[in-house]
Amino acid sequence: MTNNSSSAPPPSTHRKVALAGHNIAKRFGHVNALIDANVTVHAGEVVALFGDNGAGKSTFLKTLLGVHQPDEGKIIVDDQEVEMNSIRDAQNLGIDCVHQELALAPDISVVDNMFLGHEEMRHGGLGLLGALSRKDMTEKADAALRELSINLPSLKIAVRDLSGGQRQAVAVARAVMWSRSALLLDEPTAALGARQSEIVGDMMRTVASRGLGVLCVSHDLPRALKFADRVVILWRGETALDAPAAGLTVPDVVSTMVGYKKEEAA
Ligand SMILES: Nc1ncnc2c1ncn2[C@@H]1O[C@H](COP(=O)(O)OP(=O)(O)OP(=O)(O)O)[C@@H](O)[C@H]1O
Ligand SMILES: [Mg+2]
Repeated sequence: MTNNSSSAPPPSTHRKVALAGHNIAKRFGHVNALIDANVTVHAGEVVALFGDNGAGKSTFLKTLLGVHQPDEGKIIVDDQEVEMNSIRDAQNLGIDCVHQELALAPDISVVDNMFLGHEEMRHGGLGLLGALSRKDMTEKADAALRELSINLPSLKIAVRDLSGGQRQAVAVARAVMWSRSALLLDEPTAALGARQSEIVGDMMRTVASRGLGVLCVSHDLPRALKFADRVVILWRGETALDAPAAGLTVPDVVSTMVGYKKEEAA
């Protein structure tokens, strides 16, 4: 039955916000790392975050992860304003990250790295999956790596014995495995070859198609423009551009990244 009544409410145009930082300011002593940064990632969307070196991209991501507390502004997760005081708070809200520094433990195995920071899953406790045996852990880690077409010599070897690209792939797979609301990536393809970088791009689209928000910092502008729905550019701690990726070219992005307010600032 169709409803042609003129009093019917209009279809909802609300798009769920998976993760957002509004008017974020963050100072480190005299350094204004973020002045007025605004990024919104809707559920199902891949947003590329660009900016010159030192523009504040990693600081912004760390603020959305509870590593840094903002001096001003608010953070939204799943349409709700939240306060995060630690990375554990972010994890509990379903946010996971590939850090620029990767944050893998070199001396322990690939499998143990995949569960690093989520130890309660192993021991039952708060875990959604209950206590996991070593066999379960290995299977889960193996499936997450295989989903990204990552082939490693063994999951039992220590991360220090992997190549730089393999390490980066493990960090990406781990973040994908644990994120439920939003996935943040800080230069996830910096150490990867062309094939693996394409796989990470496809993976971001797959994660978004499951209804998560994906926010990716990248200096690989052509590839990020290809995989992103929207682009946000930070310039010296403030949002200089927020626009659909379609129609933007690399020269457009570069000129905003380096030239925004340049005359004014000179
Ligand atoms: N923990 C910190 N203490 C002091 N200053 C910091 C800290 N973290 C970042 N900064 C400063 O904040 C500014 C922004 O740094 P950030 O790492 O966010 O830049 P970025 O955009 O990620 O750069 P890149 O592209 O080089 O990774 C820089 O001037 C940096 O020196
Ligand atoms: Mg950075």
